Amino acid sequence: MEKKRILTGDRPTGKLHIGHYFGSLKKRVEMQNSGEYDMYILIADVQALTDNFNNPDKVRKNVREVAIDYLSVGIDPSKTTIYVQSMIPETAELTVFYSNLVTIARLQRNPTVKTEIAQKKELFGESVTYGFLGYPVSQAADITTFEGELVPVGEDQEPLIEQCREIVRKFNNIYGEVLIEPKAVLSEGKRIKGLDGNDKMGKSLGNAIYLSDSEEEITKKVMSAVTDPNRIKKDDLGNPDICMVAYYHNLFTTKEDVKIVCEECKAGKRGCVACKKQLAKNIIEELKPIREKRAYYEAHPEEVDKILIEGTNRAREVAKQTMKKVKKAMKLDYFE
Ligand code: TRP
Ligand code: SF4
Repeated sequence: MEKKRILTGDRPTGKLHIGHYFGSLKKRVEMQNSGEYDMYILIADVQALTDNFNNPDKVRKNVREVAIDYLSVGIDPSKTTIYVQSMIPETAELTVFYSNLVTIARLQRNPTVKTEIAQKKELFGESVTYGFLGYPVSQAADITTFEGELVPVGEDQEPLIEQCREIVRKFNNIYGEVLIEPKAVLSEGKRIKGLDGNDKMGKSLGNAIYLSDSEEEITKKVMSAVTDPNRIKKDDLGNPDICMVAYYHNLFTTKEDVKIVCEECKAGKRGCVACKKQLAKNIIEELKPIREKRAYYEAHPEEVDKILIEGTNRAREVAKQTMKKVKKAMKLDYFE
């Protein structure tokens, strides 16, 4: 049986953090290792430029950072194809074709785009760029250039997959059944909150633990996490439900130990400093293999380049095949 094709990726605008890890990376590694899928992961540098057009250095630098993050968490280039979006011109071409199949009003209604535009007032002022408003169209092209059937992403990406499905249906309706309608695959784990209790972990919020953080950085960040504010002394009765340290213990500590943490906290038998130290130790332990792999690839940048070049070459062949079918359907197959 043909393996199902997976297409997914990230914008290279910063290093990846444990929110990405629990939100999508872990799921991707599991799917890769099941051997049931043919997975493509794109580093979406063109999409990153839609809200970083004035900062090309940042995007360029983070292409390698994100590639190293992928390799460090266990994405294996002998099983999974990692490629760079801007090096697949077919995707840009398909984006232009799709732009006829989507209205401006529909893009403005996309909840993900709407939220992001509201967050980027400083960059866009009163009027958003054509490129940013249209990035769901380009993302639809990313997925369909590779005939992606499954798209493992965080839940914030769901409206983008829905919009892709609409474009696919419209295309197939007008030009014939050529494209495959993708499905989002969401991780079971919910979105990870920041160390400060914010609903979202993110660079701009300064509340994230990065996969590349050193042991010292992890410890320092955990020591600064928000705890139950009503607890001043060790024997004050605590409430783990409003403590970020307890929240992270749930992710990094064994079930039995979490039970002890909560019981001792509630009984006023546990100091917050000791509790944080225990958590920091567990996070350091869990991320250790990731850190070690990262150190290896940081010391061997030529291997990372080779993986990206080979992946991109492989991806380009698939993209050309799809484009052939698309152009034929659209009657753009002149002189063939
Ligand atoms: N939008 C994704 C992000 O913000 C990145 C991305 C680009 C993507 N193209 C994709 C994700 C295709 C899944 C499928 O990180
Ligand atoms: Fe949080 Fe632990 Fe302090 Fe309880 S003891 S408030 S769980 S840090």
